[in-house]
Amino acid sequence: MNTIIEPFRIKSVEPIYFNTEAERALIVEKAFYNPFLIHSTDVMIDLLTDSGTSAMSSNQWAGMMQGDESYAGSPSFFRFEKTIQEITGFPLVIPTHQGRAAEKILFSILGGKGKYFVSNTLFDTTRANIEFSGAEGVDLICEEGKHPSIPAPFKGNMDTTLLKKFIEEKGTANIPLCIITVTNNSGGGQPVSMQNIKEVRAICTEYKIPLFIDACRFAENSYFIKLREEGYADKSVREIAKELFSYADGCTMSAKKDAFANIGGFLAMRNEDLAQHCRNLLIMTEGFPTYGGLAGRDLEAIAIGLNEVLDEHYLQYRIRSIEYLSNKLIAAGVPVMQPAGGHAVYLDAKEFLAHIPVDQYPGQALVAALYVHGGIRSVEIGSLMFGKYDEHKKLIPAQLELVRLAIPRRVYTQSHIDYVAEVIIEVFNKRDEIKGLTITEEPPMLRHFTAKLKPIESK
Ligand code: F0G
Repeated sequence: MNTIIEPFRIKSVEPIYFNTEAERALIVEKAFYNPFLIHSTDVMIDLLTDSGTSAMSSNQWAGMMQGDESYAGSPSFFRFEKTIQEITGFPLVIPTHQGRAAEKILFSILGGKGKYFVSNTLFDTTRANIEFSGAEGVDLICEEGKHPSIPAPFKGNMDTTLLKKFIEEKGTANIPLCIITVTNNSGGGQPVSMQNIKEVRAICTEYKIPLFIDACRFAENSYFIKLREEGYADKSVREIAKELFSYADGCTMSAKKDAFANIGGFLAMRNEDLAQHCRNLLIMTEGFPTYGGLAGRDLEAIAIGLNEVLDEHYLQYRIRSIEYLSNKLIAAGVPVMQPAGGHAVYLDAKEFLAHIPVDQYPGQALVAALYVHGGIRSVEIGSLMFGKYDEHKKLIPAQLELVRLAIPRRVYTQSHIDYVAEVIIEVFNKRDEIKGLTITEEPPMLRHFTAKLKPIESK
C-alpha cells in the first residue's frame, strides 16, 4: 500500500465560503493587492500561514477544560514547563503569548547599536525585533539555499566558512548570539542538518558566542534529519529533537506552528542570569512568569500539542502531503523551490513571472493572481517582505522572490490540495497576462503586512 492517509478523523468542521472570480477581482483591488487586508471569509483556501491555524485535537480541547487559571503557580504551567524540559533539555522555561514576544524580550536584552545577530536566515519578526533594538541581523545561508530549483537535502544549513569569516571580521564582542532557524522558513522551509548544527556549535564554542534555536518547526526539521541524514534512520524523532537542542544554549519558539496551538510561545534556556533578565521584562509586558501572556488553558493545549507533534505517523503524513502538492506542480513545469519544504510549498516567482522585474514585485503579483483565479490566499516572501531602499530610494531586492503556500496542520484534505494544484497550473498557463505592481503606501517596518499596492498599467 502506497497511500498515506490522514492520521485523523474529522469531528468538527468549518464552512468554506465560495465566491466568484469577478467578486474576487474587486475584493483584491479594495484590499490594495495585499492578502493581509483581505477578510478571511472572502478566502476559499487559506494558505497565508501555518501559524495559529492548526486544527487542535480532541485531546487538546479536553486539556483546555483542565486549564487552571490561577495567576501564580498554576499546575497548567508546571505541565507546560515539564513537557518543554523533557523535549528540549533546557531547564529554564518562560511562557510568552507568541514567538515574537519571546524575540522582543531576548533582543531587548542582548541587542543594541553596533551588535550583529548571525543566522541561517532570520524570520521577518525576528529581524524586525533585532533591528528595533538598534542591532543588525545577518543571514549566512549555505550556497545550496540560494538556488530554488536545485534540490539538496539540507538547504537550510548555515555557511560555516562565512560564519567564521564574519566573526573574525566583526569581533566576538559585537556578536551576542547566533540563531539557527529550524526549518528555515524564509528560505523555503528547508531543514538544517544535525552535522551543520554541530559545526555551528563548535564555532560558537571556539568564539564564546551563545547559540539559540528558533524552534517553531523543530519536529518537522527533526523528521527530515531522520529521513535524510546518515545515522538517524533508526532514531526516534523525539531522540533527534533532544540531540538537536543539546547543541544549543536556548531557544525561542512560537507554539502556533509545531505545537498545534492557536496562540502561544516560549523562551527556554540554560543560563540563569539571562533567564532572570527575561523574567523581569516578561512581568512588565507579558505577565507573571508562570503564565507569560497566556491563559492556563493555552499552556495545557501547548503541552499536549508538543507531544502530539512527535508522533511519526503524523510527521510522515505531514511531510508527504506537502511533497504531494510540490510533485504535482513540478510535473506541470511550475517553478517551485526544490525539494518541498516542511510546512509549505514555495513558488519561485522570479521564474514563474519572468516578464515582471523585481522592482514590480512579481511575488506579490502572483499572490494576487492566485487569489483572483481560485480564491487561494498565499504570501510573498521576497522583495516586498525583505526589500530595502538605497540612499536614492532604489529597491535593494531580496535574495529570492518566493510565494509561500503554507499548509495549516490537520486542516485541509487531499481534494483541497488537488484544487490548489489545479488553480496554480491554470494561472501558470496564462502567466503572461499578469501585471507587475507598484507600492502606493508603506510603513517603515514590516511593510508587507500593511503596504498598499496597485497594478502597473502597460504603456
Ligand atoms: N520564527 C519563525 C521561523 C516563524 O516562522 C515565526 C512566525 C516566528 C518566529 C514568530 O512567531 O508568529 O508566534 O510571533 N511565522 C508565521 C508565518 C507568522 O506565517 O510563518 P509568532
